[in-house]
Amino acid sequence: MNISIIYESKYGNGKEAMTYLDTILKNKRYSVQLLSIHDIKPQLIPESDLYIFSAPNAFGKIVRSMRKFLEKIEIKNSSAQYLLVNTCLNPASSQDKGLEQMDEILSKKKISKLSDGLKLRVMTMKGPLESGYEKKLEELVLKIQ
Ligand SMILES: Cc1cc2nc3c(=O)[nH]c(=O)nc-3n(C[C@H](O)[C@H](O)[C@H](O)COP(=O)(O)O)c2cc1C
Repeated sequence: MNISIIYESKYGNGKEAMTYLDTILKNKRYSVQLLSIHDIKPQLIPESDLYIFSAPNAFGKIVRSMRKFLEKIEIKNSSAQYLLVNTCLNPASSQDKGLEQMDEILSKKKISKLSDGLKLRVMTMKGPLESGYEKKLEELVLKIQ
């Protein structure tokens, strides 16, 4: 299985989490590309079986750069699936709609959802990530067959 992890990260917390995810997926012998949205054009994302998109919230929404990126992506593999990760201050908040917004954009694309998205808490705006975030990512990986 070929996996693309594509992230936005303002202060590096999402990047740290996706770098860890990249490592554990590679240890499981998956073929993985780790990419910032600033490294690639949305129309030219690598053809993959699974896309993992990760981005932070801003003002209750998914950060604008990721929203714009997702709106423009072109999925060529018709059986592609996706997983979402969202870094945020309060995962329990019903005001924040980051994951829902990403799901909504992707529902209009030729891609299906593998499993519910994962919210990772950051302790302050600039981090650090919650302790134990690694275990949450390891559990997310178990959903990938
Ligand atoms: C301008 C701004 C607005 C933010 N608004 C929210 C918000 O509405 N909800 C939330 O959970 N986090 C909010 N945050 C905090 C981000 O979730 C946090 O900075 C981010 O998850 C850190 O991850 P990163 O290091 O990958 O950027 C905001 C951060 C900034 C800078």
